[in-house]
Amino acid sequence: MIQFVFGSQWGDEGKGKVVDYLAAKADYTVRFHGGNNAGHTVIVDGKKYPFHLMPSGILNKKTIGVIGNGVIIDPEVLLLEIKQLQEQGMDLTKKLIISPRCHLIMPYHKALDEAYENARGKNKLGTTKRGIGPTFADKVSYNGIRLYELFNFTYFEEKFRFQAELKNRILTLFGVAAIDVEKELAKFKEYRRILAPYVIDTFPILMEAQAKKKNILLEGAHGVMLDVDWGLYPYITGSNVITGGINTGSGLPIQKLDRIWAVVKAYTTRVGEGPVPTEFDDEVAHTIREQGHEYGTTTGRPRRIGWLDLEAVKFACQVTGTNCLAITKTDILTGVKKIKVCTEYRLERKKIPYSSCGYVELAKVEPVYKTFNGWSEDIRMITKFNKLPKNCQIYLKFIEKFLKVKIRIVSTGPERERNIIM
Ligand code: GDP
Ligand code: IMO
Ligand code: MG
Repeated sequence: MIQFVFGSQWGDEGKGKVVDYLAAKADYTVRFHGGNNAGHTVIVDGKKYPFHLMPSGILNKKTIGVIGNGVIIDPEVLLLEIKQLQEQGMDLTKKLIISPRCHLIMPYHKALDEAYENARGKNKLGTTKRGIGPTFADKVSYNGIRLYELFNFTYFEEKFRFQAELKNRILTLFGVAAIDVEKELAKFKEYRRILAPYVIDTFPILMEAQAKKKNILLEGAHGVMLDVDWGLYPYITGSNVITGGINTGSGLPIQKLDRIWAVVKAYTTRVGEGPVPTEFDDEVAHTIREQGHEYGTTTGRPRRIGWLDLEAVKFACQVTGTNCLAITKTDILTGVKKIKVCTEYRLERKKIPYSSCGYVELAKVEPVYKTFNGWSEDIRMITKFNKLPKNCQIYLKFIEKFLKVKIRIVSTGPERERNIIM
């Protein structure tokens, strides 16, 4: 079986938790896009793992983690994640494979990301400053350097020097410190040595796995509202979050997908700038932020809070071909007296779909809300849907009916075992 798990909102929906749970039966967990701007939290036996590049299924015994060609890699971050797992006794040489086609996030990409953000001033986008935009820009303008090149170091060095010198001139224009080429080159020699055992053509391995009907789990990053094409450009990230990204970023043909899971947080959060139609900022938002620990896994920034936006999520389900829902963080809404859900947008009193909106429209739309009565019972230990408080059931059933997709998982806490399986 091939399954795809993706974020249906603005990221941080709880993809890591759902992937880890589903990976119990997965032979492979595959990251196929994005980079270490992602932060996916997995909690097992009371220990918290905030993964940025490591596939979130890796903690399951038989699961092999695959970093597909569409992922951009900051070697420094990947090495740290490898080291942390090895320190806990995990032998990753049999558990992790990385495509040599992955592009590298270079120190100058990180410096450029920061320099652009600072130069934008009040119009900043709120990027994670991990070098994502500049790396993808270099990839499509033929200025990128792939992991593959590390193993032909003479070529690597030549390319790195050329690119770093060009970028240093740009950094100087921004008034930012230039990259120390010699120092960085020495680091890359070390990265090459440590990464070598993991780098292998992942395509034939995935093709064979597919032919042998192995269980493959594709781990999406970010969220559909951050997709480079279908998000709210320019308040987006540099990769395709939607189903098509699987083909470009791993080589797997998408018609082979059996299950397409939308992870839907029971409310909305957003880190970074750009319009969020259902955003609110009062006592209730404050409580949700604190109860839900809504602070960025990658940057620690407080997440903005909004009501569940079903107009946006409906679009996410349509564009990806979703056939299963995993609802997360319903437990955090416990105690909220009136829960609102946006069912459509209005612009100048006319209905307007998400797909017709750019960031200008989305900043102006008025969400039409349906209001639900809340519940006060703690739901974290509940394992059966019909044991949930009635109002909670009504809330979840409404989401299912509205999206016309079955809920298969209701996550009731951050830990692996906190789920209602339907
Ligand atoms: P991701 O980027 O989609 O993987 O999500 P993050 O890990 O960035 O953020 C989700 C946060 O919510 C993490 O701290 C998770 O441990 C936590 N989480 C996931 N599912 C649930 C849930 O159902 N209930 C609660 N209370 N926390 C959850
Ligand atoms: P996960 O996988 C939340 C957001 C950033 C910023 C915009 C562009 O953990 O859900 P970038 O650094 O990618 O150029 O920043 O995208 N962003 C995320 N927000 N969760 C993520 O990943 C994100 N990945 C990128 O905050 O607004
Ligand atoms: Mg996250």
